[in-house]
Amino acid sequence: MTEQGFEAEGLVKAFGKVTALDGVSLAAPRGQVLGVLGPNGAGKTTVIRILATLLRPDGGRASVAGYDVTRQPGQVRRRIALSGQHASVDEELTGRANLVMIGRLLDLTHPQAARRAGELLARFGLEDAAKRPVAGYSGGMRRRLDLAASLVGRPEVVFLDEPSVGLDPGKRDELWQMIRGLSADGVTVLLTTQYLEEADALADAIAVIDHGRVIASGTPAELKSQVGGHTIAVRPNDPADAEATTAILADVAGRAPERSTRHELAVPVTGDEALFEIAARLREQRIGVSELSLRLPSLDEVFLALTGAPATAADNTPEPTKAAS
Ligand SMILES: Nc1ncnc2c1ncn2[C@@H]1O[C@H](COP(=O)(O)OP(=O)(O)O)[C@@H](O)[C@H]1O
Ligand SMILES: [Mg+2]
Repeated sequence: MTEQGFEAEGLVKAFGKVTALDGVSLAAPRGQVLGVLGPNGAGKTTVIRILATLLRPDGGRASVAGYDVTRQPGQVRRRIALSGQHASVDEELTGRANLVMIGRLLDLTHPQAARRAGELLARFGLEDAAKRPVAGYSGGMRRRLDLAASLVGRPEVVFLDEPSVGLDPGKRDELWQMIRGLSADGVTVLLTTQYLEEADALADAIAVIDHGRVIASGTPAELKSQVGGHTIAVRPNDPADAEATTAILADVAGRAPERSTRHELAVPVTGDEALFEIAARLREQRIGVSELSLRLPSLDEVFLALTGAPATAADNTPEPTKAAS
């Protein structure tokens, strides 16, 4: 492989009787973001720890930035950064001092370390906070500083283990911008997440893992079409037409539609023929619509179809759902 990001083949890892990884293969070429998606305990952190040379696999092989993780761990370590769940910054130091210290530890001269710290503080929107101790930072600022800290050494591959856990949606969006910036710089990213939206928003490709196995992989669009089927959604102009619309959908799709908020009715279908049939029947009955769409299933629906279980409640969008009838 000339495009060196990372690749793993058949990784196996057991902890006592627990099989954490049962033959995991995944890869990303240089500059791409691979999203590793899976519920708690699926094996996501174990994959990262093996690729980051913190843990030896029992079987299989992996290379990162062109070097084998078990035979050339020193070469791998020089080219990677690990960031996410366990922030590695010193609480008592200022943001700037943290970045300078890391630069010094990486053998930069003081002026080089100071310059690199300045660049990263600017890029991560932390210039104002740079002179304050990290102890007073908000969760979002800490996460950005942690990501900045991981970039001091200009890594080729960055591992982000559930980077946005616990961030509110605004802070999460800021972090997403930063992560997109990494891949724009040619950095290869492995991002683990339980948030389907996050994988959809950031990843060039996704590997879904469950019980230590890759159960599906591909681009977000490929995953959605792999599950098969589409959803048709209709919103009648006049809410009084809901019943007649429901009857049409049920008749064409062969099953009762779901009624979502805002008077939208949605039903899964297998092909686009149903769309034309539904449109024709709506016109026949003079039912005006404000929305009529054929769409791929959401990643939530994909996850449900693949694992047989919805993403756990805590994994779903944090904002409260608006009560509309
Ligand atoms: N050091 C360890 N000792 C024993 N079991 C572990 C250890 N690390 C992980 N496991 C187990 O391996 C499985 C996968 O864990 P992990 O990779 O942390 O999953 P995830 O990050 O997807 O939540 C889980 O069943 C977990 O309990
Ligand atoms: Mg984990």
